[in-house]
Amino acid sequence: MKIAVLGTGSVGQTLAAKCADLGHHVVIGTRDPERLSDEFALFLDSHSAVKALNFSGAVSFGDLVINAVSGAHTLEALQLAGAENLSDKVLIDVANPLDFSKGMPPTLSVCNESSLAEEIQLAFPNVRVIKSLNTMTASLMVKPSLLDGDHQVFINGNSAAAKEVVQALLQEFGWKASNIVDLGDITASRGVEMYLPLWLRIYGAMGTALLNVRIVR
Ligand SMILES: NC(=O)c1ccc[n+]([C@@H]2O[C@H](COP(=O)([O-])OP(=O)(O)OC[C@H]3O[C@@H](n4cnc5c(N)ncnc54)[C@H](OP(=O)(O)O)[C@@H]3O)[C@@H](O)[C@H]2O)c1
Repeated sequence: MKIAVLGTGSVGQTLAAKCADLGHHVVIGTRDPERLSDEFALFLDSHSAVKALNFSGAVSFGDLVINAVSGAHTLEALQLAGAENLSDKVLIDVANPLDFSKGMPPTLSVCNESSLAEEIQLAFPNVRVIKSLNTMTASLMVKPSLLDGDHQVFINGNSAAAKEVVQALLQEFGWKASNIVDLGDITASRGVEMYLPLWLRIYGAMGTALLNVRIVR
């Protein structure tokens, strides 16, 4: 599959590297591929199969788009990518709407009556947005076996066909089908995004980011 990962941070790098390892054709979207951070340039040096393009070029290339841009800049990045280039594509939204402008802990820039994923869906009605993977640290997204036993990843969005595409990719990452929990339509993004303040507190209390939800019934 041709995959465009938008975002050059640890999440974008981790997802791009894994997708390329799995044999997918991967590009990473960034604002200006001629002006890369030293850290991201090093990543590209060590991952020759992954190329950097601007947001528009990346989305034009990808059949599947993964949004791993900071929440505060997601809509800006997607505008740069271009609605016409995004049209009809499946977009996995991994971003969290964290607002660090007032210091730590961050607040949510959107919550309760909407969510970042809903804002994306509203701004780009022809994109099939699926929220997933935002509830865990990057390394765990692509290697659930880093934690023992069963633990869960959530998906939600309006398109059943898009969910099938995302479920298949998650299984390639190592997620058991029974541990992929479909929470319903795009409005379920509110819950998984509002989990972030709790995730941050658990991280602080436990002293590790390598943690996840295990649902016990
Ligand atoms: N860190 C984790 O483990 C984790 C876990 C779950 C979810 N998330 C979420 O995943 C997303 C990515 O996190 P991250 O830590 O990897 O990266 P990040 O630092 O949050 O975001 C990096 C990306 O944001 C882009 N960006 C910054 N300012 C911009 C602007 N004004 N316009 C357009 N794009 C702009 C950067 O573009 P350039 O490439 O051009 O610099 C870069 O690609 C975030 O939404 C985060 O909340 C993170």
